[in-house]
Amino acid sequence: MTRQAAFEHEPHKGMNQLPHKGVLMNELFRGEQMVCCHDRDTGLRAVIAVDDTRLGPAVGGVRMKAYPSELAAITEAQRLAAGMTLKNAAAGLPFGGGKSVILADDALRTQDRTQVLRAFGRFVGRLGGSYIPGVDMGTTVGDLAVVGTVAPRVACAESDPSPWTALGVHTGIRAAIAHLGGSDLHGVRVAIQGAGHVGAELARLLAVDGAHVIVADVDPARAQLVAARTGGEAVAADRITSAGCDVFAPCAVAKVVDTTTAGSLGCRVLAGAANDQLADRQTAAALADAGVLYVPDFLINAGGVVQIYASMQGWDDDRLRPEVLAIGDRVAAVLDSARHDSVSPLLAAEALASRRLTESQAVPA
Ligand code: NAI
Repeated sequence: MTRQAAFEHEPHKGMNQLPHKGVLMNELFRGEQMVCCHDRDTGLRAVIAVDDTRLGPAVGGVRMKAYPSELAAITEAQRLAAGMTLKNAAAGLPFGGGKSVILADDALRTQDRTQVLRAFGRFVGRLGGSYIPGVDMGTTVGDLAVVGTVAPRVACAESDPSPWTALGVHTGIRAAIAHLGGSDLHGVRVAIQGAGHVGAELARLLAVDGAHVIVADVDPARAQLVAARTGGEAVAADRITSAGCDVFAPCAVAKVVDTTTAGSLGCRVLAGAANDQLADRQTAAALADAGVLYVPDFLINAGGVVQIYASMQGWDDDRLRPEVLAIGDRVAAVLDSARHDSVSPLLAAEALASRRLTESQAVPA
């Protein structure tokens, strides 16, 4: 029976009495605007989520991947967009938070990529500049350049922010180890999930510090290449969480830890580039109970978005570098504040972002 037919059989049930009342607008999406896009010519299906524009236009990457369902894609866009709001606010940037996902199903993969990206760019254009897309998993600088031929403004069309994201994560890991009393990264075992743009560069930086790198990727050749270049070891993708490490650095997919796996990670620090690493808020408490110091993803992985701001400002690398290295100072301050107030680092980092968002609302005297 279709939903319409169900209403007809229960005429007393108006729209307000739908069993899913409030799920979409109140629970699934608490942001400002969410757009579901469909292009008839290419078959493109995409979701653009604008979470918050109080600090400026919503900046956030375009993720292109296969999703098990449309609901999964919508949920991910919303969660990632909300994470971008926190990230941009905590980093002190004049950007709001947004994110988009392109549902890369088998049918879409047969389409001309340029046409798909141009179709996506047209939908971005309809938002009138309130969303500025950048790169994310599954998209490249070249892809954003194509989107930018149609959309009013894009980030990352000229340079890849990933090395700066890796530098920020690297300095954040150093700060976390120092917080636990370590003097440097020499001999520290770091397990990196994902040997892509960020993971590979993070591995290089860690190896320079004398850390022992363990790396995994669903594409084993990528992991082996990174391991060979860094003198580290490659393990199978499903073995990375049990590889035995001091620091686990997720640099691939979202929701890598939940309340049941938090206790079995066996590391001292969870700190990586991947957005939205925790399955839910309870996982932050489970990690603390398990003695794992969690460095909130939106705090430590802001290097890329700082680089986006820098390129808009025309800064050179010498001007940008200290701004990215300041992520290490912010991580140290948040971890100290969490310890002082006996709260999780997640709460302390959210408080930092929230203060900035609230200050932006303050009416000048
Ligand atoms: P990428 O697409 O270059 O690399 C991701 C790598 O992870 C790929 O090699 C892929 O094969 C691998 N992978 C996918 N699923 C995996 C799994 N289950 N286990 C192991 N490996 C898996 O992506 P990129 O740019 O390196 O980003 C990595 C993460 O960092 C993403 O979550 C992204 O949202 C986040 N991030 C990236 C930024 C950037 O500047 N590139 C900025 C901030 C966050």
